[in-house]
Amino acid sequence: MQVLAINGSYRTKGTTARLLEAALEGAASKGASTDVVMLRDRNIQWCTNCLKCYNDLESPLGPCSVDDDMTAILEQVQRADGILFGSPIHNGFLTALMTLFIERMVWRVCRPTGTIGGLRGTPEPRQDKVRALASIVSAGGMPARLRSACDGTPWLKENCTLYLNGFWVGDMYAAADLVRLPESDEEWARMYHLRRLSASQIAKARELGERLAETIARGDIRPTPPMGRLSEVIARVVTRYLKLYKTVDESEA
Ligand SMILES: Cc1cc2nc3c(=O)[nH]c(=O)nc-3n(C[C@H](O)[C@H](O)[C@H](O)COP(=O)(O)O)c2cc1C
Repeated sequence: MQVLAINGSYRTKGTTARLLEAALEGAASKGASTDVVMLRDRNIQWCTNCLKCYNDLESPLGPCSVDDDMTAILEQVQRADGILFGSPIHNGFLTALMTLFIERMVWRVCRPTGTIGGLRGTPEPRQDKVRALASIVSAGGMPARLRSACDGTPWLKENCTLYLNGFWVGDMYAAADLVRLPESDEEWARMYHLRRLSASQIAKARELGERLAETIARGDIRPTPPMGRLSEVIARVVTRYLKLYKTVDESEA
């Protein structure tokens, strides 16, 4: 059983790294062999939109015209039974490095042959293998109760379950555990960088890793359906939009 952590933080020993480490310890305690990909230490260029991967419907891993470390990382991703995504919150969302990674991943692990809510040409995984997925997001000043104002977890969940045939095991949002407001500039700065994680945050990360490995070991995982029950709503919206589009088209003719 292989569990891979993908870390989109810019700090090798930062908050995200420490939480992922605890989660991987938890996974290892339940029998997983673990590995970490520290994205900032790898050569990852941006997508050139050449569509080489998109146009290849056959390969188990879509080819890429950019010669960098993505192929090696994606081979690891495709071998993994469980993947843990980790990212700090920067400017209210995941880091640029994490979104770059997912942007580079989509049409290499998927082909454009899927259908969601009546829309055709959506990503469909190239492999049948189902993977257990989870995420850990670390923030600075945003208290966990207000996470919806400053989070990337729903985006990660929607996209990665779709691209990787993923079963979403769970997620963690590590933010300031505010008991009172900070009183000095130093306290505010410490909170912003979240350098001190609480014992309960470390324990929660470890527990998530344990749960990920236990879920894989049980083997009863099914892909989380794209958009969940929203799929039907989206189908109705798309159908309505297409009707409107046709009307505009006709009125212009
Ligand atoms: C450029 C930048 C932008 C940030 N934006 C936010 C933000 O919007 N909301 C927030 O709560 N924390 C923000 N932070 C704080 C980080 O999320 C926080 O320090 C996180 O724990 C860092 O994780 P790391 O130690 O793995 O780098 C930001 C930090 C940086 C460097």
